[in-house]
Amino acid sequence: MTELAAEVSGDFAEAVLAGLALPRKVIPARYFYDQRGSELFEQITGLAEYYPTRTERWLLQHHAADLERLAGRGRPVVEFGAGSAAKTPLLLDATQARTYVPIDISGDFLAEAMEDLARLRPNLAIMPVAGDFTRPLDLPRLDGPLTGFFPGSTIGNFDHASAVDLLRSFRTTLGKDARLVIGIDTRKNAGLLEAAYDDAEGVTAAFNLNLLTRINRELDGTVPLDAFEHRAVWHSGFGRIEMHLVATRAVDFTVAGRRFALREGETIHTENSYKYTPEEARLLARASGWEPLAMWTDPDALFGLHVWTAGSGEAQP
Ligand code: AVI
Repeated sequence: MTELAAEVSGDFAEAVLAGLALPRKVIPARYFYDQRGSELFEQITGLAEYYPTRTERWLLQHHAADLERLAGRGRPVVEFGAGSAAKTPLLLDATQARTYVPIDISGDFLAEAMEDLARLRPNLAIMPVAGDFTRPLDLPRLDGPLTGFFPGSTIGNFDHASAVDLLRSFRTTLGKDARLVIGIDTRKNAGLLEAAYDDAEGVTAAFNLNLLTRINRELDGTVPLDAFEHRAVWHSGFGRIEMHLVATRAVDFTVAGRRFALREGETIHTENSYKYTPEEARLLARASGWEPLAMWTDPDALFGLHVWTAGSGEAQP
């Protein structure tokens, strides 16, 4: 086990043991992304019901000239949570970037994706960083100013206070005169949202349930998978989709030697996915020390692509 993997699984154990001990059980969404979880997420991005990926791709293509103008031509691009980097070439091409710094927690998955990108873009300097972008990270030495890329509405998986902290830390990491190209999912009708998080093929269900498989494998767990099912529900008051694992019967099991029990119908809350109106997205930018430069949506307003600027001053404390 590498040092990084050991650190991540230490975190994972702590988070699972603490989260399952709460009266309302919760496991943070970032633990979905082991190798299998990352593969399942890739499948989700291709589902008919999951509109964010194809809509954001369309926006990146449709606004390539605007991106060149507003996101900064030829700047190094730093991507937070690069995953398979599927949309990255669209931004790299639009801005004619020559240097790309992908950051991702899943080191193996990132390495594979980067081999593919290197084949496609032999002249691109790729400097991968394996790590958790929610914590301060050292970037390789780069010639600034930089352009950050945070697509996919990953910001939606953070509650509002954490989202502000994260975006402020991006600003610090990226430095003076930075730009941020960020995809933020929009609020829309509940039917479309719930279908996107509970697809007919059951891929999102498998993605959610894979968390239990991961617990059993990595934390010596005895969680009976057949006692849980996937649930996705829209809460308009919170402006978020919640994903849960619901116990279909009373169940008990151990994780790392500790015993836990759930009643029938009790849930483990595994993910929030917040959606933002254009006004809320602008507020989020300003609360985080960024200034919105542009926002584009598709004709059905399914998804938002934003460009923000850090300005030339220091981040406000
Ligand atoms: C990664 N993140 C933005 C996805 C989302 O839409 O919140 C994760 C996801 N969960 C279920 N489907 C996709």
